[in-house]
Amino acid sequence: MRKVEAGARAGRQRLKIEGMLQDRLVNLERAFASFSEHWSPRLAGEFNGMVVKAVKLQGEFVWHRHEEADEMFLVVRGALRIGFRDREVTVRPGEFYIIPRGVEHITASDEETHALIFEPAGTLNTGNVDNERSVHSEGVIASG
Ligand code: NI
Repeated sequence: MRKVEAGARAGRQRLKIEGMLQDRLVNLERAFASFSEHWSPRLAGEFNGMVVKAVKLQGEFVWHRHEEADEMFLVVRGALRIGFRDREVTVRPGEFYIIPRGVEHITASDEETHALIFEPAGTLNTGNVDNERSVHSEGVIASG
């Protein structure tokens, strides 16, 4: 419990620093053109304690779960495969999927895929796992 509270505090603190995540136009084409790294989410917006992250994916991520956060993926380009222990779902442009908190999952894509992630501020991309794929402090998408 203490760990969760610390995470929430860290999220609030970061949003204070990144106070520019609202009241601005974000163009998705330009947003995705502004970075090239895979599995490196960029903050694009914040509302009501939630963040919108833009991410480029290719290849396979790591199995993980988010104990306290539901996680929504909205696919903009490509095809996102979300693996669960008993099945796999493919999410295509114009589609979204919400992974319930506590459910173990792995994301993967064969071609470069662009997606928006909606989740509570301070949610770690690798959930309960901390490894070289973990991003503790995301860059911010510029306006326009
Ligand atoms: Ni996840």
